[in-house]
Amino acid sequence: MFAAILLLVLLPLLAYLYVHSRFASQRAAILQSLSLPPSTKILAFFHPYCNAGGGGERVLWAAIAYIQRTRPGLLSVVYTGDVDATKSEILKKVESRFSITLAPETLHFVFLKRRVLIEDATYPHFTLIGQSMGSVGLVLEAMSLLVPHAYIDTMGYAFTLPVVRLFGVPVGAYVHYPTVSPPMISRVQSTPKLIYYHAFMLLYALALRRARVLMVNSTWTKKHVDAVLAYPGFGRWGIVRPLVVYPSCDNREMARLPLEGRERVVISIAQFRPEKDHAKQIRALHELLAEHPEHAEQGIKLVLIGGCRNAADEARVEVLRALARELSVDKYVQFELNAPYPDMLAWLRRASVGLNTMLDEHFGINVVEFMAAGVIPIAHASGGPLEDIVVPFQGEITGYHAITATEFASQIHAALTLSSEEDLAIRQRARAWAVQRFSEAEFEAAWEGSGWSKLVG
Ligand SMILES: *[C@@H]1O[C@H](CO)[C@@H](O)[C@H](O)[C@H]1NC(C)=O
Repeated sequence: MFAAILLLVLLPLLAYLYVHSRFASQRAAILQSLSLPPSTKILAFFHPYCNAGGGGERVLWAAIAYIQRTRPGLLSVVYTGDVDATKSEILKKVESRFSITLAPETLHFVFLKRRVLIEDATYPHFTLIGQSMGSVGLVLEAMSLLVPHAYIDTMGYAFTLPVVRLFGVPVGAYVHYPTVSPPMISRVQSTPKLIYYHAFMLLYALALRRARVLMVNSTWTKKHVDAVLAYPGFGRWGIVRPLVVYPSCDNREMARLPLEGRERVVISIAQFRPEKDHAKQIRALHELLAEHPEHAEQGIKLVLIGGCRNAADEARVEVLRALARELSVDKYVQFELNAPYPDMLAWLRRASVGLNTMLDEHFGINVVEFMAAGVIPIAHASGGPLEDIVVPFQGEITGYHAITATEFASQIHAALTLSSEEDLAIRQRARAWAVQRFSEAEFEAAWEGSGWSKLVG
């Protein structure tokens, strides 16, 4: 009897106390190594690839820089698998890559050795489940090294959220891209696959629902995350609504280009990948010249600027060149493959109009760049360019939308035949909007509005 009580009550209690004091001493050791007061709250970010230098990393560093500035009494910690880099190397790269200066006094890195658990190469089959379970393993390593006061996943590892909650830590997430969502699987045909996806999505929904603060990077992502949270008809009770927090774009250089003196140059900036639909741009030019031959006399030029990474991309470029010849517009089409940044900037300075023909692009950073550079955008009427980017500002248009080649042709005509006052007004508006909406200040205001500080109390 006595032994049973001992086993059932005392042992778990002792285990709890032991673990708890271990967590506390880990925290104390870290705070001491940074000479911070023992009462300092620790906010941890799960970002195993923090040194990758991509758009997702920019969000992480911009958020930390903001928190350091506005809550200097808080310690930010990043769980990373970049064991080859040192803290000062990472900070230097953040500075040179993003021009973001971080304060080393209130930033600490916890290096994880088991990042291989989340690499896709580790799971040739069942990658979704494999990586998700792997992230559970990795976050357990993280918790064994440090249990923070609050936790935010910024890389899309939703399955880490319930695990961290088990340690009594409030959690949040910034979602760039949903792992899976009902609209994404609506086209899956085979029954076993459907069952797999639905089972996975149920777990994903349950995991995401553990977040007290949820941010998403665009309207597109919000729609998908909303659909996941509502799956499978759980209802809305008790769940947090995701808030759109647009990443900031660094377009200071573009925003300095002069708005006047533009040439009859139409540009496109996109990798030569099939979904970018460059062929539509060439067809639009063909239709434009058929309908309004005066543009040919005025020396119109379509410049396709883009990355060409491999033989498949090169083959696509050849097909595009052949199309231009076939439609007899090759004289007016110019390809700029793998142009260095200064060349791209030079085109942005000369161009009047910029095209984006991709269907359902999630965001469209190239369209933001057109606008910041004062290039009038004509973007596909779908996805981010329709919902987030080329939208009215102060009640007036900031560019055009089109779907078919014919529509693109008539919008190019419209943009090239504006009166000079209208022309300048659109360029100014597009620039003002793009710079403001995707600025650091907007990002910070939205981040604050997410209620992240609830997590640290
Ligand atoms: C959101 O993240 C996804 C995935 O990284 C990316 O494709 C998309 O462009 C991002 N959206 C914004 C607004 O940056």
